[in-house]
Amino acid sequence: MIEKINALKAEIEKLEAKSVADVEALRVKYLSKKGEVSALFNDFRNVAPDQKRAMGQALNELKNLATDRINALRDQLATSDSSLDGIDLTRTPSAIRLGSRHPLSIVREEIISIFRRLGFTIAEGPEIEDDWHVFSSLNFAADHPARDMQDTFFIQRSPDVLLRTHTSSVQSRVMETSQPPIRIICPGRVYRNEAISARAHCFFHQVEALYVDKNVSFADLRQTLLYFAREMFGPETKIRLRPSYFPFTEPSAEMDISCDLCGGEGCSFCKGTGWVEILGCGMVDPNVLESCGIDSKEYTGFALGMGVERITNLKYRVKDLRMFSENDVRFLEEFQGAQK
Ligand code: DAH
Repeated sequence: MIEKINALKAEIEKLEAKSVADVEALRVKYLSKKGEVSALFNDFRNVAPDQKRAMGQALNELKNLATDRINALRDQLATSDSSLDGIDLTRTPSAIRLGSRHPLSIVREEIISIFRRLGFTIAEGPEIEDDWHVFSSLNFAADHPARDMQDTFFIQRSPDVLLRTHTSSVQSRVMETSQPPIRIICPGRVYRNEAISARAHCFFHQVEALYVDKNVSFADLRQTLLYFAREMFGPETKIRLRPSYFPFTEPSAEMDISCDLCGGEGCSFCKGTGWVEILGCGMVDPNVLESCGIDSKEYTGFALGMGVERITNLKYRVKDLRMFSENDVRFLEEFQGAQK
């Protein structure tokens, strides 16, 4: 048996392989269950007891030798793989192109996180809506121009099925199904039948906020707006409320912030006024509360709505609204550093 072991040792030391398949064949030949080395282990039974020790050692050495040799052959092939010929493995790899968040997503998340700090939670509603939630429940008169074909994309008439023109529809959906206190923020996409240009698009994004509870006042609205403006545009930001009209709020207002380009001096961006308009707001009209099943004698509320594109323009000075939906990688890459 010892001669057999020595002969195999000599054979194994000289083994060569040209491919991974060769190595595998050698492994099977020597080390598999039916391989030559294993066969010797089977013969071990018949070795005389006084020789068992020496023979056992020799057998183990043979097995280790075969394992090491076959592994070494495999390693050699891996590093001298002919498919890598001509490839310079020391070259610096080309950089991985990291993606970036879309500017509208960055700004939407920032708006949401500011309101979340005030205790608002997110509510969502469908983009395909009915007349009740987009218009009637929100106190739009039957002949209000916003219902017009020129503004609204109708999918079907009587009963009307349409693409929501504002996220205020989520207000009525939430008020219909829950009772105060209600403190929600509703981000979403809205649609209007506008010709696409640098300053208008047929779809854009809004964020709506609604707070309904006992004793909610205009002072609460104003303080919320001031907090939002300062968190969004910096602690020096001033706000100004101008009386306005929306069917669903009474009184209604539009909010301007001080122009941070000229510091309020007046420039071309703010058209010389020192102020830029950013959102609409007001105290929820009691008719709206009642339409949605909330007792307007017990509860009051405020609402506000803003365009995400508008806020993004103010923060990042994007001149052309179309940039937001063209997916030009050069434009999107500009926001790589902006994400939080
Ligand atoms: N829905 C309005 C629009 O699309 C924005 C708005 C104004 C929302 C005043 C409000 C609000 O909640 O109180 O122009």
